[in-house]
Amino acid sequence: MDPRLNIINKRLENIKRVIAVSGGKGGIGKSQTAAALAQYLSMQNYRVGLLDLDFCGPSSHLILGIDDVFPEEDMGILPPLVGGIHFMSITFFSGGQPAPLRGGEISNAIIEILAITRWGPLDFLIIDMPPGTGDPTLDVIRLMERVEFLLVTTPSRVAQEVMKKELSVLRELHIPVIGVLENMKIKNNSPTEEVLAGLQVPFLGSIDFDEDLEDALGNTDKLLATGFVKQLGQILAHSQMIS
Ligand SMILES: Nc1ncnc2c1ncn2[C@@H]1O[C@H](COP(=O)(O)OP(=O)(O)O)[C@@H](O)[C@H]1O
Ligand SMILES: [Mg+2]
Repeated sequence: MDPRLNIINKRLENIKRVIAVSGGKGGIGKSQTAAALAQYLSMQNYRVGLLDLDFCGPSSHLILGIDDVFPEEDMGILPPLVGGIHFMSITFFSGGQPAPLRGGEISNAIIEILAITRWGPLDFLIIDMPPGTGDPTLDVIRLMERVEFLLVTTPSRVAQEVMKKELSVLRELHIPVIGVLENMKIKNNSPTEEVLAGLQVPFLGSIDFDEDLEDALGNTDKLLATGFVKQLGQILAHSQMIS
């Protein structure tokens, strides 16, 4: 029995909702969505945490331009508050060096980061998930009882097939799925909507491919002005997911 597991429940007890932004495939916009979702919620005056669990390819700090802050220690680790978001990432500890962890080591690092982080009271904890539906997904489900998933996909059939597999794993484990967001839309059609028909999972909406996004990386003011964030905001405002 790992004594850290008891602490994790205590660390998370004052968090109202935990939302894992996932989708199975890499490069589909999970990190971008997680960061923008955290920004959006913070602007609505919610207390928000953002946890980057992509240990092999952490990206949230790059998107939000977080580079000169460090967590403080006080009976655990206090996530720094950056731009209204309580932020935690392995980059604080790996110092920009690669962290080539094996499966068991990843699980151990997830347990450790959840056990040491003192979030305090939050309305939302957003998790930027790694690609895949393997150990980290199963660990998050095992360790965070109330986790809900928001799935991201693209209009590509390659991304859709992977997303459907993740969906069926979540279903089998009876994990709530808020819905599926289609990102990087280029053509007029939204294949995700058709794919989800009959699966009883809400289609949240589409976000267009936004060629200005790259220039806004690391600059929160510019990010907020992008079409990506505006479209995500509209989708969130019209969906039932935040109440
Ligand atoms: N709607 C979009 N339009 C243009 N570029 C996007 C869009 N969504 C994400 N990107 C870009 O695609 C790349 C991968 O996004 P990222 O969020 O890191 O994906 P993931 O976390 O799923 O691997 C990043 O360079 C990101 O800025
Ligand atoms: Mg990512």
